[in-house]
Amino acid sequence: MLDRDYEFIRELVYNHSRINLGPDKKELVSARLGKRLRATNLTSIGDYCRFLQDEKSADELSHLIDAISTNHTFFFRESAHFDFLTQRAIPEMIERRSKERWPTFNIWSAACSSGEEPYSIAITLSQALASARPPWNWRIEATDISHRVLQRARVGVYKEEAVKHVPPALIRTCFQKGFGPQEGNYRVKSTLQENVTFRQLNLLEGAPPFRDSFQVIFCRNVMIYFDRPTQEELVRKLGRLLVPGGYLFVGHAESLSGIQHGLELISTAIYRRPA
Ligand SMILES: C[S@@+](CC[C@H](N)C(=O)[O-])C[C@H]1O[C@@H](n2cnc3c(N)ncnc32)[C@H](O)[C@@H]1O
Repeated sequence: MLDRDYEFIRELVYNHSRINLGPDKKELVSARLGKRLRATNLTSIGDYCRFLQDEKSADELSHLIDAISTNHTFFFRESAHFDFLTQRAIPEMIERRSKERWPTFNIWSAACSSGEEPYSIAITLSQALASARPPWNWRIEATDISHRVLQRARVGVYKEEAVKHVPPALIRTCFQKGFGPQEGNYRVKSTLQENVTFRQLNLLEGAPPFRDSFQVIFCRNVMIYFDRPTQEELVRKLGRLLVPGGYLFVGHAESLSGIQHGLELISTAIYRRPA
C-alpha cells in the first residue's frame, strides 16, 4: 500500500469516525481493505481510493468504516462492571427513583458492537430489578457507528461458543435454545430484546438524539481508537448526558487521566457525575 493511499484512507477514516490510525496500522488496514476490493471488484488500493473520491460511491464510506473498525466484544466482558451495577449502581438508583421521579431506569451502551454488551446489561437489570417494588421499567439505548454489527445485534442470536461464559442459570432464563436447523444457537428472549433499542450513531457527530438522561452509560473499548482531544470531547459529552450521581463505565485499558472531564473516579474504569 502506497504511503499516499494510506494517508488518504487514514484521513477519511479520521474525519468520518475519529478513529485514529497510527503509522503502525498500515499492514492491518491493507489486510482489512482486501474484502472491500473484492466487494467492489477493484484490483488495487489506488483504484479503491479513487473510487472513494467519487460522489457516487458515498455509501462505500460506511463499508470502509465497517471494514476498518474492530468489533471484538463478548458477554459480560470486564465482569467487575456488572458486579458494580448489581451491588451498587442499581440499589442506589432504586433508592433515589421516587424522589427524582424517574419513570424508567435508562442505560446507554455507546459503541455496543454486535449486542453482547447491551444484552449483558439487560440480563443484569432484569435480574436485579425483578424484585423491585413497585416494579421499575428499564430501557437500554444501544448504539454503534457500524450498520453491519447492529444488524447482528438486532437479531440477537449467538453461537454456543459466545454464551459459554454466561452462567447456565441465566442461559435458561434469558435465552431460547435453538432446535433442528437452529441447533447450537441461542436467541436472547424477546422479553429482554424489547427493552433494548439499537440505532446507528456516530459518537462524535452532533448531539446524541436522546430526550432523557441516563443513570448509567457504558462506553467501553472504543476510546482507545481515538486521540486525546477526541477522548476529551467524548467524555464531556457523555458526562452531560448522565443524571447527577450517574455512572460512566469505560474499558479497563482506557485511562481518563490527563483529560478534563469533571467526573469523579469511583473504582477502576468507573466514573460518576458529581451529585
Ligand atoms: C471493540 S468494540 C467495543 C464493544 C463493546 N463496547 C465492548 O466493550 O465489548 C468498538 C466499537 O466501537 C464502534 N465505533 C468506532 N468508532 C465509533 C464512533 N465514532 N461512533 C460510534 N461507534 C464507534 C465500532 O464500530 C465497534 O463496534
